[in-house]
Amino acid sequence: MMEKKKVHYSELGLVNTTEMFAKAMAGKYAIPAYNFNNLEQLQAIITACAETNSPVIIQVSKGARSYANETMLRCMAMGAVQMARETGSNIPICLHLDHGDSFELCKSCIDSGFSSVMIDGSHLPYDENVALTRQVVEYAHQNDVTVEGELGVLAGIEDEVSAEHSTYTKPEEVEDFVKKTGVDSLAISIGTSHGAYKFKAGQPVPPLRFDILEECEKRIPGFPIVLHGASSVVQEYVELINRYGGKMEGAIGIPEEQLRQAAASAVCKINIDSDGRLAVTAKVREYFAKDPKEFDPRKYLGEARKELVKLIKHKNETVLGSAGKA
Ligand code: G3H
Ligand code: 13P
Ligand code: ZN
Repeated sequence: MMEKKKVHYSELGLVNTTEMFAKAMAGKYAIPAYNFNNLEQLQAIITACAETNSPVIIQVSKGARSYANETMLRCMAMGAVQMARETGSNIPICLHLDHGDSFELCKSCIDSGFSSVMIDGSHLPYDENVALTRQVVEYAHQNDVTVEGELGVLAGIEDEVSAEHSTYTKPEEVEDFVKKTGVDSLAISIGTSHGAYKFKAGQPVPPLRFDILEECEKRIPGFPIVLHGASSVVQEYVELINRYGGKMEGAIGIPEEQLRQAAASAVCKINIDSDGRLAVTAKVREYFAKDPKEFDPRKYLGEARKELVKLIKHKNETVLGSAGKA
């Protein structure tokens, strides 16, 4: 059996989040963080970000890592950088672990070429969150890898733990947490949630708690804040899915206007996964409904990839404000 060798992210052409976030903070926009699990998603992210000249964070969850294989993923990230460069694009690309749940997982990602990791201790008692995050930061910083921590719990599925209701971040904790842990960015809970069913259908969508965001900003001025669970749950896709045999009634997300407002604040990173999943599912369902004889995955996945490029360009240009900022 071949031994796994330690690879530093710089060998892969990747960058950490330090410079990206400093520029996003100064320029009042947010860096998009798109989750990927497969080739077509990664191709679409890189194509769209290169075409819009946007810096990008490509992120991988624990589940995505075991789905795609860690070595395959690293090589895909390296391929993504090379693909961008060969098209003449010099966009900065960061490979980030999304919702790391242990020191061992974070270390393994750092050792295999990730340039940034999240350690999500948000469900732990405060002191345990601090201790775990601190441990990850110590190892990560020895390797020039940046670390995202989290305070407050989002509703929905987070870190394989189901949280029925969100617990908003307590602004009075953020300064102490940042100081004690040494994290480079902080995810907070202000009313976003993971997945496609963020709010109760038929009821008014509660606005994000910008007051909590402002309180956090005041206590850690100039510090990069991260928003998870930030898909808009694009209704055009939900309708296509339902029209072509799916069953996703009542899927609702965060209005784009509120994300725009967040991107113009200290929020420097906005996480989007569900919208990409919806785009792929909608296009694949539509394709099969219209052409039930087709069985070449390049045909239906090609359509899905095309739609993903469109979606990501739209996000960069009109929601995050990251287009043209690479
Ligand atoms: O926040 C979670 C991300 O959407 C990743 O989801 O664990 O199903 O890959 P996953
Ligand atoms: P969405 O489910 O809203 O896309 O959130 C994704 C996310 O936060 C990944 O960490
Ligand atoms: Zn998340």
